[in-house]
Amino acid sequence: MRLTVEGEINRTYCQNLCLIFFPGAKFPEKEPEGADVPEVLLRTRTEEGVSISEAVILCGGRRTTGVGRVALSSAESADRAVKRSVGEAMLRAGSELMGAPPPWGILTGVRPAKVAAAMLAGGLDADAVREALIKEYFVSEEKAALLCRICSVQEKAKALAEEGTCSLYISIPFCPTRCAYCSFVSYATPAYLATIPAYLDCLCLDIEATCRTIRERGEKLLTVYVGGGTPTILSAAQLDRLLSTVNRAIGGTRLLEFTVEAGRPDTVTAEKIEVMLAHGVDRTGINPQILDDDVLAGIGRRHTAADFYAAYELAARSGIPVINTDLIAGLPGSDFRRFAGTVDEIVRLQPRNVTVHTYCVKRAAEFTERAAAGSLDGIYSYSGDDTAACIEYSQRKLAEKGYLPYYLYRQKNSKGNLENVGYAAEGFEGLYNIFMMEELQHIYGVGAGAVTKRIGRNGGKITRIFEPKYTYEYLRQHAEDAPDGSGGGAAKP
Ligand SMILES: C[S@@+](CC[C@H](N)C(=O)[O-])C[C@H]1O[C@@H](n2cnc3c(N)ncnc32)[C@H](O)[C@@H]1O
Ligand code: SF4
Repeated sequence: MRLTVEGEINRTYCQNLCLIFFPGAKFPEKEPEGADVPEVLLRTRTEEGVSISEAVILCGGRRTTGVGRVALSSAESADRAVKRSVGEAMLRAGSELMGAPPPWGILTGVRPAKVAAAMLAGGLDADAVREALIKEYFVSEEKAALLCRICSVQEKAKALAEEGTCSLYISIPFCPTRCAYCSFVSYATPAYLATIPAYLDCLCLDIEATCRTIRERGEKLLTVYVGGGTPTILSAAQLDRLLSTVNRAIGGTRLLEFTVEAGRPDTVTAEKIEVMLAHGVDRTGINPQILDDDVLAGIGRRHTAADFYAAYELAARSGIPVINTDLIAGLPGSDFRRFAGTVDEIVRLQPRNVTVHTYCVKRAAEFTERAAAGSLDGIYSYSGDDTAACIEYSQRKLAEKGYLPYYLYRQKNSKGNLENVGYAAEGFEGLYNIFMMEELQHIYGVGAGAVTKRIGRNGGKITRIFEPKYTYEYLRQHAEDAPDGSGGGAAKP
């Protein structure tokens, strides 16, 4: 699209505002020409202590406009005030063009619960926060209420994440096959899967070194999360080695939560679950995404609904205390009936955690490539078609069954600008998810694609350290770092 920005306002923020109304829009340096290319003009200035902004949108032969005004005050930074006034202008022009306002208003590029938490920390009570979200950020009443509910559910977990506490994330970036919607850095080709033994060698060394660092710094490890990819792609023996290493490295630390995300039902076996239990794992995830064999085939999951039930049954009968199930609303090929049926089935199984995602169009996913090649329609959607009804149904049904929403995040290019929400039976909230999402404590990340985040004193500046994104880079780095050059690394497959 064509975007013109005039005045003191961050261009990336303006692009994010455009993406709310034009999901999937691109902003190339050499702007595209032609009458059919949507065009946005955003202009801002400050007059007598008021930030005044205007937005003009030209699209499909229509022209809509909006104005935003925010008085500058000592209660908020000038930067934030200007962002809100530009946001308001864009929201008015965009909502008129699309015929409806977006559910999350102009909250973009920020973690919604952090915005609400900052207001609470600034002295507002929950009602005032809800009102501010609606009036200042144009968040819908339902979403503002949801966010306030989440903040209150998170209170207990927040109290646990004192200064000097941390969690450990271990990355297993391999999968049995690649799902068509997914863009996570994960590998499914035979050449990459063959590197798993070498990867495990390096990973175990990193786990030991990281736990030594945690001990030397006198930090208190609260949770461990083995995620992916698909951690249960490891054989039972490999999983046993990995979890033995974790337990040896953390010594006698009594964790508050030890998660091994299984994920794909087609990788779950009784033996692997036994290994998890033997090593003290108390939380896992078995993910159907959707319980419909046609949609599962269409999204490339390579497992059926029956496979999910079988894997879930294994985990539930084993006595692992907390099982999470990931669902996705709005997947290509799915609809309200299929998604609502999935939610009904999941609540019948009574897992202690359910995470409801909204389908999000990711640049590197197969579906997105197919859409670009013209063989798949309708993946980008402002209205979200029936996805809003799916999300609303999941929120209602899960609340009826006593689940509490405990964490939330949003992504660009999500169908209908909707959100991802984790739900838990009371007292079984996934602590790692809250600590990580709300950036409450240090997170040490080990393995390819993992990120270490160190939080400054009193919740100050966050420092990020990125592990190599690709497994072959990770292995090479290990080989180079090892004193004798051996390091357990392997050549690029
Ligand atoms: C890192 S993935 C790992 C899960 C595991 N490998 C599996 O597939 O069951 C975590 C979750 O993100 C969600 N997810 C991944 N890509 C998504 C997308 N494009 N849109 C919405 N949710 C997505 C899925 O629900 C998935 O279970
Ligand atoms: S959704 Fe899970 S199994 Fe599928 S490609 Fe992504 S990480 Fe792998």
